[in-house]
Amino acid sequence: MTVVALVGTQWGDEGKGKITDVLASKADVVARYQGGNNAGHTVVVGDTTYKLHLIPSGILYEGTTCLIGNGVVVDPKVLCEEIAYLHQSGISTANLYVSEKAHLIMPYHRVLDQLEESQRTLKIGTTGRGIGPAYVDKFMRMGVRMLDLKSRESLERAIDQVLPFKNQLLQQVYDHPGFIREELVEEYLAYAETIVPLLADTSLVVHEARQAGKSILLEGAQGTLLDVDHGTYPFVTSSNPTAGGAAPGIGIGPNHINQVIGVVKSYTTRVGEGPFVSELNDATGDLIRERGREFGTTTGRPRRCGWFDAVLVRYAVRVNGLTGLAITLLDVLDALETIKVCVAYEYRGERLEQMPADLEVLKECKPIYQELPGWQVDTTKVQTFADLPLPAKEYLTFLAEQVGCPIQIVSVGPRRDQTMLLQEVF
Ligand code: IMP
Repeated sequence: MTVVALVGTQWGDEGKGKITDVLASKADVVARYQGGNNAGHTVVVGDTTYKLHLIPSGILYEGTTCLIGNGVVVDPKVLCEEIAYLHQSGISTANLYVSEKAHLIMPYHRVLDQLEESQRTLKIGTTGRGIGPAYVDKFMRMGVRMLDLKSRESLERAIDQVLPFKNQLLQQVYDHPGFIREELVEEYLAYAETIVPLLADTSLVVHEARQAGKSILLEGAQGTLLDVDHGTYPFVTSSNPTAGGAAPGIGIGPNHINQVIGVVKSYTTRVGEGPFVSELNDATGDLIRERGREFGTTTGRPRRCGWFDAVLVRYAVRVNGLTGLAITLLDVLDALETIKVCVAYEYRGERLEQMPADLEVLKECKPIYQELPGWQVDTTKVQTFADLPLPAKEYLTFLAEQVGCPIQIVSVGPRRDQTMLLQEVF
């Protein structure tokens, strides 16, 4: 029995969907613990590309139990669409369960997300999916939960607790007409038909799986630098993607998590606003964007690209307690003659090895680079670490040394067979 948490170590989009998919082949249970459909996971199986936002990519394996934990905020419209999409693709969702405690994204959350963002002088660049406003209501204790979908009465009761406040806010502050109670109730009762049969005590499902000696993968969305506590606040999401978020987000004791694997791109990307020390606003950045197909799965926005930032990943190793790294998209660097790694920051003449908390400091930081030779060899068919070109091995070894964590997995393409397992996970 092994419980592994899989987290993003940068600003999201590290390739967690693919690594989850690879590990899910050996996992009995895959559980998402935070975020919502702001995430986007792309998984390539044979000639088919699957894009999922909410349902763990473990669903692509028959027999793997997939859970959406209580820490996730669920847009039921998106969940129903994803279930329909999987069914159309011939994939069963018989083993999908959703926590009855998970909070629902409501239409006013999406509208408020967009209106609030438009009013901010300091734009966060949210995905506009209603994620932040849904978490606000959760912590304000006025959220609508999955449990509330179980009957018309409970749904009406939950909506009545919150809608007058939302309508007042929308009408008086944003000059928006607001939402009609009956329309919301009918819309959500329609989703309930699909979703209520999937509701479960997902904490208990995980507990029983552990007791039966099963392998469990806890899947984080977004990344460490988007964590509301540990990320580049306020340019963050509204949940805890770090490994610590897995315990409350699923309902598992932190002492039951045996390994924490950090997924890390062989370079760095960021969507949305905020400082990015190793950003490349030049032809190399464009080359990485094109080769890495760095356009958002959820929003289609071009991602900002830059060199690998060891300061960020060193920090991610610390705040997540990483036990291993899964390095993704190594092949994107195949074309480069030389590759830089940001090993430290320079701030007003001072060398910083650790991530500063103050964004005003971070904004002024300049990257201190170490340049390494590229390999200029196609790595997409390489099957073992030993067969990688020497400069690629040296690059990976350098990254592991810089951040202080061993490499467990290397990925050289989107397909399942483009993955090297240096050390078994399950
Ligand atoms: P929100 O999560 O929609 O509130 O957006 C907050 C910030 O997190 C924005 O900068 C988004 O671009 C970023 N973000 C949210 N989800 C993801 C993701 O899955 N990948 C990358 N960035 C994300």
